[in-house]
Amino acid sequence: MVALRVVSARRASRSEPVRPHVGIVTEKAALRGALDQARAAGRTVGLVPTMGALHDGHAALIRRAAAECDLVAVTVFVNPLQFDRPDDLAAYPKDLDGDLAVVAAAGARLVFAPTSTEMYGVGAQARVHVAGLADRLEGAARPGHFDGVATVCTKLFGIAGPCLAYFGEKDFQQVAVVRRLVHDLDLPVEVVACPTVRDGDGLALSSRNALLTPQERAAAPGLHRALRLGVAQVAAGERDPAVIAAAVAAALATEPALRPDRVDVVDADTLEAPGGHTVRMRILAAASLGRVRLIDNLGIDL
Ligand code: PAJ
Repeated sequence: MVALRVVSARRASRSEPVRPHVGIVTEKAALRGALDQARAAGRTVGLVPTMGALHDGHAALIRRAAAECDLVAVTVFVNPLQFDRPDDLAAYPKDLDGDLAVVAAAGARLVFAPTSTEMYGVGAQARVHVAGLADRLEGAARPGHFDGVATVCTKLFGIAGPCLAYFGEKDFQQVAVVRRLVHDLDLPVEVVACPTVRDGDGLALSSRNALLTPQERAAAPGLHRALRLGVAQVAAGERDPAVIAAAVAAALATEPALRPDRVDVVDADTLEAPGGHTVRMRILAAASLGRVRLIDNLGIDL
């Protein structure tokens, strides 16, 4: 039998009310047991996979899951398999206490926070590769990244069982990869995509934003500004993806602190080059600021 530890997330200040209890499980069997029990009692299960350092973007996913499901489990696991740079993995922010407070306030009651050994054991060999989709766009810039994401999500779905799983459009290609693997592998999971949550200046919330210096943080909204310029071009009638991408890249190049990495204009439904059949376009961009790589995207209906 495995234990379910129940903790009271710490108060952010004395004037704040004590937060509701959140159960933390660190073993796969404990998560599976808790969710099986809920389903046996006729309750629906929501799953929100995360790597922790939770912010309002994650909270929006959790709130949506809590509104739509009877029991919501938030997973907090910095998945080593999806990092293509060891320095990025080492620097990835961690704050389990803060995460518990966000989870509790957003309405979930269960956190799964396994160690890497619990998650992968020793000598795990199987990998999930979504051919084509995982190798293009962001996948080309970060070899192996989407295999790591696909593998950990498949494992989480296997551990959690039938559920609704919530993902953010901030990682647009990730949602497409997850949808594809769920479809192709007949997993009993309904993928729900949620809109990107932004700061007031347009910067998409991201756990990595915590690593930006004040100067880099001030420059970071340039990524969103450049994407908006691309959307404005489409709204004005431009349909040539190369022209739109060039305009976004040119806008990025005017932001002194940003090092543009990629700009892609794709059909939002296929993530392929847009064509006559395209009804929704998506503009995706990546840029680096110091040691942090930011990604963002915006969509527009044609
Ligand atoms: P992480 O970056 O922690 O993000 C967890 C979920 O929160 C993802 O679905 C992501 O798209 C969503 N999210 C992040 N920032 C958001 C924002 N500003 N607005 C809305 N949603 C946002 O993505 C991962 O972790 C991992 O790859 C994971 C899926 C957990 C697999 O390890």
